[in-house]
Amino acid sequence: MYRKLTILCLAIIPVVLYNCTTNTLDEGDVEDLPPIVETVTYDDDVAAIITTNCVTCHSGPNANAGLQLTGYANVRAAAEQGNLVNRINNSANPMPPTGQLPPETRQIIDQWIIDGYLEN
Ligand code: HEC
Repeated sequence: MYRKLTILCLAIIPVVLYNCTTNTLDEGDVEDLPPIVETVTYDDDVAAIITTNCVTCHSGPNANAGLQLTGYANVRAAAEQGNLVNRINNSANPMPPTGQLPPETRQIIDQWIIDGYLEN
């Protein structure tokens, strides 16, 4: 009796483990992440993401699409207008054009907007 139970348990463990790993690998959506509980601010969290991923193409006199993403006021304006979030989360036509940022990074931008565009 106990032996059958042990064999059954041993047979179930790999199945459970396999499902856990595949689910983790499949999670590419912001909705699947645990919520951010810390307050997100432009200075602490958002500025670095924009500087690293966007500013090379979206600054100066030849900024792509005429869109300046330098500094709090410009980034807030783009976020309030809506296009920034749409393009960051747009898998067919993403920004940056090389491919979507990881969901953890996009979630920070989403949370910044939810929190009300805090500067610092
Ligand atoms: C390699 C250059 C490049 C990088 C890096 C880049 N962009 Fe862009 N972006 C473009 C070009 C070119 C366009 C205009 C064509 C288009 O809309 O796809 C554009 C358009 C946009 C638009 C639409 C503007 C409008 O008024 O229609 C938004 C919003 C945007 N980018 C946001 C971002 C954000 C946010 C980042 C960083 C996460 C980023 N971009 C990174 C080149 C870039």
